Amino acid sequence: MLLCNGDIFLSLFIMAEIESLQKIVSHCKEYGFIFPSSEIYDNLGAVYDYGPFGVELKNHIKEYWWKSMVQMHENIVGLDAAIFMHPTTWKASGHLDSFSDPLIDNKDSKKRYRADVLLEEKIDKLKEKGEKELTKKGIELSSSEEEKAKASRDYAKALQLETAYTKAAEASDFKRYKELIEEYEIACEVSGSRNWTDVRQFNLMFGTKMGAVDEMATELYLRPETAQGIFVNFLNVQKSARMKIPFGIAQIGKAFRNEIVARQFIFRMREFEQMEMQFFVRPGSELEWFKTWKETRMKWHLALGSSQDSLRFHVHEKLAHYANAAEDIQFKFPIGFKELEGIHSRTDFDLTEHQKFSGKKLQYFDAELNQNYVPYVIETSIGLDRMFLRIMSECLKEETLESGETRIVLNLPPALAPIKVAVLPLVKKDGLPEKAREILNVLKFVGRTFYEEKDAIGKRYRRMDAIGTPYCITVDHQTLEDNTVTLRVRDTMEQERINISEVARIVGEKVDMNNLLRKAIA
Ligand code: GAP
Repeated sequence: MLLCNGDIFLSLFIMAEIESLQKIVSHCKEYGFIFPSSEIYDNLGAVYDYGPFGVELKNHIKEYWWKSMVQMHENIVGLDAAIFMHPTTWKASGHLDSFSDPLIDNKDSKKRYRADVLLEEKIDKLKEKGEKELTKKGIELSSSEEEKAKASRDYAKALQLETAYTKAAEASDFKRYKELIEEYEIACEVSGSRNWTDVRQFNLMFGTKMGAVDEMATELYLRPETAQGIFVNFLNVQKSARMKIPFGIAQIGKAFRNEIVARQFIFRMREFEQMEMQFFVRPGSELEWFKTWKETRMKWHLALGSSQDSLRFHVHEKLAHYANAAEDIQFKFPIGFKELEGIHSRTDFDLTEHQKFSGKKLQYFDAELNQNYVPYVIETSIGLDRMFLRIMSECLKEETLESGETRIVLNLPPALAPIKVAVLPLVKKDGLPEKAREILNVLKFVGRTFYEEKDAIGKRYRRMDAIGTPYCITVDHQTLEDNTVTLRVRDTMEQERINISEVARIVGEKVDMNNLLRKAIA
């Protein structure tokens, strides 16, 4: 049997996750996933544009979230609120008064830093140095913190700083931040000096104006989170969709934050997208629902096939004034374990504040209890771009094949892949392109397809591997004789001869989003 063997002899040898953020950034640019914004004008810091394959992947992540939250839960409905909101919204939510970062400037270089980030980076560096020392001494890194501190001076220093920093953060004691920066001799990376200003608070909201005449214009803010659009619409949604507590409102939309430290690609952006759900419950039942949503969201993440080791819960020791429980789902990014999603029990804070500032009642009549109350809220909030980075970090692999050749492969879950199937005529003549296009027209109903006739078949397979296309269909001369094609599988590089009439069914079954949804809600 003839196989179009672009890579048939190159069986797999070693597979390694790409661990450097820089490699992910380069891959995203080269293969049309993500470009720096306004690049021809030298970029706009921490703002990014999604390219042809990036936008497809992003849309599939949204679809996975939306279907699992809204389509699969009859007590959750959707909303698409405006980015502009009445300015009082931000007074009521507390963002005007306290949505800020502690900043510190180096007087010599004039470079501005987040004081909390300087301290956290110092802790990480000291721990890293300490761990190297421990490894040299043959001490297990799984030993207790106490043992590690005893054996390494740097590790002990890291723990001391961590304790002092946590205490200062809990007390919002920014004077202490500066003292710690000085005590631990943190220097500016540009000037190398330790000549620091005091720490000041800097509000992260972007302001703008609505109205034609400057003096009459209303000061507005670009929303820093999508959640408030849900809170102010609580009664509109509850009444129009006839929702009974417990119920949720889900939304996907843009949010804007004037982030100061924004050097981590799409991990921390100034314009980003959030996928948030607010779940309204009876007062007193919120901690039970908090537990349920924590488990539900972790299952959603694990359904993507991630290893248990790359995801973990992180309990907030210091709770925001409106919360009575909060945990993050952290993912092991190339920059370390970091927040991917927040799950918060927000009590009745937001609805009560909006009630107070608007003078409108935001209550629910619970017929079973024959009682009016302000519902309590559990929030699940995940950054879409951060989820994109997680998928890239997890799926981008470099394989060394037996031949010694390396293969870059993005082994995305097929339901998320930007291109589901590529149709490739082996040569550009003898009627093969026409036959390939016939097949392509049928496959368009299965998902996004790709057609390419240029270059050797092996090279075309490699390009499809790099953008994560799970299947390639190769049309050759035998196809014209017996209506069969080669189905080549991205992950194993295995090839199988199948009848054209089978292609849409086989590919369709594999790329179906329901495969993921079934696992996520099982
Ligand atoms: N409504 C709650 C809220 O906004 P948050 O922890 O500030 O909570 C929720 O943000 C999620 O939004 C985070 O877990 C993260 O995934 C994402 N996120 C926050 N700031 C971001 C930024 N500057 N760039 C990209 N994603 C961000």
